[in-house]
This record gives sequence, C-alpha cells and structure tokens, in this order.
Amino acid sequence: MIKIDHLFTSYSTINGPVHVINDVDFEIFDNEIFGIAGESGCGKTTLLKALYDIIEFPMVVDSGKLILSGEKNGKAFSYETGQIRKTWWNNISYVPQAAQSVLNSIVPLKNQFLDSIPKADKKNERSEQTLKRVSDYLEELSLSPDLLNAYPFQLSGGMRQRVIIALATFMSPNVVLADEPTTALDVVVQRGILMMLMRLQKQLKNTMVIVSHDMGVHYQITDRMGIMYSGSMVELGKTEDIFEKPIHPYTQMLVGALPRVGDKSQKTGIPGRPPALTNPPPGCRFAPRCPKATDECRKTVPKFSEVEQGRFAACHLLNRGGV
Ligand SMILES: Nc1ncnc2c1ncn2[C@@H]1O[C@H](COP(=O)(O)OP(=O)(O)OP(=O)(O)O)[C@@H](O)[C@H]1O
Ligand SMILES: [Mg+2]
Repeated sequence: MIKIDHLFTSYSTINGPVHVINDVDFEIFDNEIFGIAGESGCGKTTLLKALYDIIEFPMVVDSGKLILSGEKNGKAFSYETGQIRKTWWNNISYVPQAAQSVLNSIVPLKNQFLDSIPKADKKNERSEQTLKRVSDYLEELSLSPDLLNAYPFQLSGGMRQRVIIALATFMSPNVVLADEPTTALDVVVQRGILMMLMRLQKQLKNTMVIVSHDMGVHYQITDRMGIMYSGSMVELGKTEDIFEKPIHPYTQMLVGALPRVGDKSQKTGIPGRPPALTNPPPGCRFAPRCPKATDECRKTVPKFSEVEQGRFAACHLLNRGGV
C-alpha cells in the first residue's frame, strides 16, 4: 500500500517557489490498478516522482510524506520518503514519461537488463544465469529473447516500451509506477501495451499506478482513479463511478467532453485554461472556469473529503446539497 500523507511539494525557481503538489492526501491499495488523470501541467509527473522518491533539486518536499508498505517473500516492509529509494526495483519500480528515450541507444539491451538488476541479486548469480532468467521472462511476456542482443535504436517505439515494462517488472515489485505508458503510440500498439500491463498486474497481484491524460486509458484498465487539477486532487473513486456519476464540476466537464459511440453531438471541451501555478487564484483553483462557482468558491480552498464510502471530492457545492 502507498499512503500519501498531506503532501506539499514545490520547485525552486529564481522567482521563488512554485507550489505544485498541494495537500495531496490519499491511499493506493494492494492489488489494484490506480489511475491518475488531469490536464497537462497539473502535476501528475511531479506526484509520481514523489511516489518513487526521486526528489531532486529543484523539486522540494515542503511537508507531508509517503509511506510504502507491504509484504514480500513473507517479510513485512515499510519505507518512508527518503528511504523508498533503497527498495527501487525490489519493491517499487518506475516507467518514466517518454521512457522510450531512457534506454541508451548504443548499449545492447542485455547489458541494460544486467545493469538494472540490483547488486544484491547479481552477487549470487553469474550473469549467464541472470540472462537466462531474463530471457525466460521475456518469453513469458511473449517477447523474443533475441531482443537481448538488439540495440534500442533497432526497435519500434512500442517494442521499446514493452521492453521497459519487462525491465520494470522483472523483480516482481509490489508497486509499478508508469507515467504516460501509451502516449505517442498508435492505438493498436497502445492497446497491446495496456493489455500487457493488465496481464502483469493479474499475475503479480501487485499495485500499478498509471498516469495518463487520456481518460480512455483509465476507462479501459484502472480500478480506481484520481483526478488532479492545478496541483491538487479534486476527485477520487472507483473508475466506473467516476465515469457514470462524476461529482466535481471539473470531472463532469472532463467526462462530458468524451466522445461516445453513436453520439453525434458537438463536443466543446472545457473553456478557459488552468491557472498559472506561479499565481494561483485564492479559493478553489477551478472556480475561474466553473459555471457553478459562488463567492465562497472564489475565497476559500475546498477540503478534499469523503463524500460517499470510498468516494472523495473537493468542492464547496457538495456541502450545499450537491453539485
Ligand atoms: N524543474 C522544474 N522547475 C520548475 N517548474 C517545474 C519543473 N518541473 C515541472 N515544473 C512545473 O510543474 C508543473 C507540473 O509539471 P508536471 O510535469 O508534474 O505536469 P504533468 O501533469 O505531468 O504534465 P504533462 O501531462 O504535460 O506530462 C508544471 O507547471 C511545470 O511547469
Ligand atoms: Mg507528465
């Protein structure tokens, strides 16, 4: 399980701090695919970096923390922000945004696999044995073991993404974080990657966190999801509930803007733009774009609270009989 406990992060800039994650507080369970959605720049990658504990300058955790806990090989573990990195690959792994460019083009894939496996695991094994395990694992994932002798530039974008997912799951981590794993791939390849992630999650019975700005991706594979807006979580719940009965006006507009089979009506999208994180409005950050905003919305930040069991939202209108 991952507990995100009242997390605040910012980026240091020459013009002062830019607050990107603001009081984000929720839990991600074992054995689920959890999705994080929201417009470009709302802080999805920043949140995922905090989850993976890659907190490097100019990113700063101002307050709050993360706790990654679970059980592996019969042993319980618990790591907090600052310690999570000790368990990279073993208990948590990460597929970064634009991961396809992460592989080193001039190094054969087998060397990149061997370099990525933690030393503790390598110590007891000769590399040929490790390579045999890697090659068996690739076969299990319907990938050719011949890929190990290839250079990344010889592979298509979709194939590179599959190899990276294979790398990230090779040690059977309890948590896999994937940032936009299907962006920039055509729909057929996209579907293949999503199927691969779902199959792996079923096999490992672990936690997968999928970041995507594409609501279609969440609809297809996530069990629960959170919607981010301008550095905050504005709604969270079971994916089917979010699509069937969105609560927050922003989610309602996001879901309303999706095309549906047979519906020929004109889709308008969401008017306006998210506020600049350098100078956010004082109350609810969605208020300037919200058709239902009141004076209270423009003045006070709404609390992210449980609306129904397992369903959370941050909207003043909920306290006044509904949105
Ligand atoms: N190194 C940095 N220094 C200053 N600001 C940054 C830095 N990295 C990101 N930001 C700002 O933080 C905000 C959130 O960025 P982030 O990459 O987390 O968004 P995102 O939701 O992942 O967007 P996208 O969908 O485009 O990937 C953006 O406004 C961005 O400009
Ligand atoms: Mg991003």
